[in-house]
Amino acid sequence: MANDTLIIAPSILSGDFGNLDASIASIEQSADWVHVDVMDGHFVPNLTIGPPVVKAFRKHTTKFLDCHLMMTNPDSFFLAFKEAGADSCTIHVEIGNTQDCIDQMRSLGLGVGLALNPDTPIETVFEFVSQVDIVLVMSVFPGFGGQSFIESTFEKVIRLVEELDRQGVSPIVEVDGGVGPSNVAQLFEVGARAFVAGSSIFGTQDPGKACQELRTRATTSR
Ligand code: DX5
Ligand code: ZN
Repeated sequence: MANDTLIIAPSILSGDFGNLDASIASIEQSADWVHVDVMDGHFVPNLTIGPPVVKAFRKHTTKFLDCHLMMTNPDSFFLAFKEAGADSCTIHVEIGNTQDCIDQMRSLGLGVGLALNPDTPIETVFEFVSQVDIVLVMSVFPGFGGQSFIESTFEKVIRLVEELDRQGVSPIVEVDGGVGPSNVAQLFEVGARAFVAGSSIFGTQDPGKACQELRTRATTSR
């Protein structure tokens, strides 16, 4: 991971579900990725969107589509996400068949991400970090946007980055949930490089400007 990498990934979950095209357009100039939260009503107590909507996004953006699969059985859908135009899929380590999922995503040419929940020890992902492109550290319990950032995430990111250095590998460290202007600089400081933000971007009058401000704030010392 290059030290100057800085990825702002607005979570479309906080966009306008009646007009997602406009939501994407509002951040097209200033975001790096579009974060797509896929929820199956089983791994998390919420239902959101799937491959047909990703396919529709693909027609409206050139951005990297970072699909976060909060699903118990994501492997049934990797091909559908790939065909829909997803750039990466991130699965949760809690589902159990991590190695098999990583292999399947790789063989399809998808970017490979591995996420973990706030109550999952960071050591759980250590055996996989050399095989993935993204490690997504959840800073809220997954399922809903607009929750408060869990402070113990800082310590988790620090321990993750130490392990990445120890193994000499450099997946992108992504943080998701409750990220905004008040914590982005400290997260950058400890080594996070991709920032998922829903309400702190789409909850503002000008999402494009909110992206730019988050980017500036990330590298401004507190
Ligand atoms: C939570 C999702 C997040 C969330 C981010 O389950 O994975 O991507 O929508 O939204 P905010 O920034 O509002 O916490
Ligand atoms: Zn997410």
